[in-house]
Amino acid sequence: MDIQDRKSIRVDASGMLYNTANPQSFLNEEIHAMRPGLQNASANLLLKRSQGELDFSALLIEMKDQAPLIQAFADDAAEHFDSFVLLGIGGSALGPQAVHQALRPYYYNELTQEKRNQRPRFYVVDNIDPVRFSELLSGLDLNKTLFNVVSKSGNTSETMAQFLIVRERLKAECGDQYHQHIVVTTDREKGNLAALAESEGYRRFEIPQGIGGRFSELTPVGLLPAAVCGIDILELMDGAIAMDERVREETELFENPAQLRAALAYLSLKQGKTMSVFMPYADGLKLMADWYAQLWAESLGKRYNRQGEKVWQGQTPIKALGVTDQHSQVQLYVEGPNDKVFTFVTVEQFKEDILIPKAPEVAQNLQFLGGHRMSELLHSELIATKYALTLAGRLHQTIVLPELTPFTVGQLLLLLQWETAYMGELLDVNAFDQPGVEEGKIGTYALMGKPGFAKRKVEIEAWIEATQRKQSNVQEDCGFREPAYDKIECEADTPRS
Ligand code: PA5
Repeated sequence: MDIQDRKSIRVDASGMLYNTANPQSFLNEEIHAMRPGLQNASANLLLKRSQGELDFSALLIEMKDQAPLIQAFADDAAEHFDSFVLLGIGGSALGPQAVHQALRPYYYNELTQEKRNQRPRFYVVDNIDPVRFSELLSGLDLNKTLFNVVSKSGNTSETMAQFLIVRERLKAECGDQYHQHIVVTTDREKGNLAALAESEGYRRFEIPQGIGGRFSELTPVGLLPAAVCGIDILELMDGAIAMDERVREETELFENPAQLRAALAYLSLKQGKTMSVFMPYADGLKLMADWYAQLWAESLGKRYNRQGEKVWQGQTPIKALGVTDQHSQVQLYVEGPNDKVFTFVTVEQFKEDILIPKAPEVAQNLQFLGGHRMSELLHSELIATKYALTLAGRLHQTIVLPELTPFTVGQLLLLLQWETAYMGELLDVNAFDQPGVEEGKIGTYALMGKPGFAKRKVEIEAWIEATQRKQSNVQEDCGFREPAYDKIECEADTPRS
């Protein structure tokens, strides 16, 4: 086994493969019957890639080439600032948080500056809760803080509201130099953020046009915060490129982990497994479950297929953490409805381990723990959970990371992105748009009085009124049979992406 193999992540699908204990598990023939569908998926995706429609893969080398520029900016920022605050939401925030948690100490912000290797503290504000935001802003020394405003569209209400608040505070605190405290990550030309960066002279990094939010972690969206916090972004990109090369071509199914996972996800969904539990057994990967949940939900949860027929497609992602959620959710997973498929993620070699000391004689029932390492206990609990699920006829698979490093995390990101793209093809939906999210954004614009959305405002207000009347026990039909956006022409001046 060479060094590259030892660093390669792998998929153990044995918990899905036919065994007598589980009649719902899949025969080899069933899995191999997916081959033509996957060949087709592969051909379609490679065509898209060659036409500039699959840039999360096609631009990896270009993104790696930008790494030195990003690194230079990050090193300079680390010299001048104590805190780095990312303002963003959805795909503009989940990846940076997941990668930071995976590759920095868990209690990073609580470490001394020396233990953080002189890198700034890192905060991500991905919500508009006024209490949390006030608390953060009042605790920061704005003169020593750099804000990274991240928005692909440059128009998202939540991020733009945060930005406007921060801009005012910085102006008041830092005067003419306020713009030095803002770095923007957005589209090259589209959107308000690009226009503001241009007119106010903010330092700026670009999100390539062909990469949507949830596929953008390995662009400046994720690379800049990672580099600021001292993560080796070249290693991250190398891992991503290695996985991209491994899975983007159609190969023997069991040698292509992205295709294998997509095939098994597809078969399980067809079998009625409408929920997919993603359960890492490492605290460092807890937020990776959040990132993956968005990727899976937003990419595949679609009302229409690509022929425009209503299909109400998708598989609901559930985030869980091993072993913590063994004491909260596993009861349901083992004994509740058999409507879920499970992905465990495990790290073989933790970078730290602790020996469990021998228990005092009086605690006879604890003697078995002494002399084992914490990682042994963790891995035993994972095996025990998988065994319990198998006995209960549940389907599961495991993604194995030899260790948690930028190289393996880069691979994991690409594995899950490609798996999602393949699954989109198998389900015949567009995995790269999010019309349901856009409708919510449009409703917010309307309620907040954005010009061009007056008609939607009237509709929503009528709905609120009718709902309130209903609540006062006046039995009246609100008039809605389908979500309103099916029938009503939207006046939005913002095109749906
Ligand atoms: O994946 C997506 O496209 C979305 O989740 C977006 O990332 C999210 O809505 C934020 O959009 P933006 O980056 O344009 O502010």
